[in-house]
Amino acid sequence: MLPEPRLARWLQRVEACLESALPAADQSPQALHQAMRHAVLAGGKRLRPMLAYATGEALGAEESLLDAPATAVELVHAFSLVHDDLPAMDDDALRRGRPTVHVAFDEATAILAGDALQTLAFSVLAESPAAATLRVAWLQTLAEATGTRGMCGGQALDMAATGAQLALAELERLHALKTGALIRAAVRMGALAGDADAETLARLDDYASALGLAFQIRDDILDVEGDSAQLGKTAGKDQSQAKSTYPALLGMARSKALLVELSDKTKAALGPLGERAGVLHRLAEFAVARVS
Ligand code: IPE
Ligand code: IPE
Ligand code: MG
Ligand code: MG
Ligand code: MG
Repeated sequence: MLPEPRLARWLQRVEACLESALPAADQSPQALHQAMRHAVLAGGKRLRPMLAYATGEALGAEESLLDAPATAVELVHAFSLVHDDLPAMDDDALRRGRPTVHVAFDEATAILAGDALQTLAFSVLAESPAAATLRVAWLQTLAEATGTRGMCGGQALDMAATGAQLALAELERLHALKTGALIRAAVRMGALAGDADAETLARLDDYASALGLAFQIRDDILDVEGDSAQLGKTAGKDQSQAKSTYPALLGMARSKALLVELSDKTKAALGPLGERAGVLHRLAEFAVARVS
């Protein structure tokens, strides 16, 4: 992602944790377990785990304490992608440079793999060695971010908005829920591990909200400007499916100007954290400038 030694180390950690959390491919029911592994392993930027580690580290949390939230948020994210790609939703055949789960396996297996990845995420949190109060706070944070007040709610708005013209405030809410919620949860779980006070939690939430919106606007832009090989998913789908996106509503120039504003917001939110927030700054820069 970025040439930063801590990110390389955290990437290794989360890959190992994901591998050990997932059921073995040869364990029955094999197709389900193979589908879960297909969805999670070999690919993905792992931005949400990086945000959990970077936030926790900025607040002095032990790296090993951050493994569970980093792993759990990526499992929920992977579940969201499996279901997002289903024929009933975005009907995509390519993800992370490989066939989507329902193409590589079948639709029923993809639905079940998504379901099982979601519950696995919560098991990982529940079984972590963290104090019980911290585990409950993580579970509540991730549950809220995944459900109707978070990702699932946003996906429902996304489906309802397909072919429709939204007001800007409605599109902002849609993006905040479908993508922002899990990104905010990643940051919040890291912050909780670092015993953040209320003011720091609020500040980091401002950071994550701006980053989350920027990340999805960048995703909308790349769907127009990127190519499938580079993205690892089919470019041009939003327009062909009449999705509600920032470029469709505001045009490309205003969408890119908004990215600059949101990037400034992330910097302002992190300001008082000083040097400690170095990696968080870099992750925000990555979110607005990424090309895949
Ligand atoms: C894709 O997320 C879906 C969105 C919320 C935009 P990512 O761009 O983080 O996908 P991976 O995990 O790197 O494949
Ligand atoms: C999906 O947004 C956000 C999720 C909750 C998965 P998109 O539908 O734009 O994500 P991509 O472009 O398929 O990765
Ligand atoms: Mg979608
Ligand atoms: Mg999609
Ligand atoms: Mg997209």
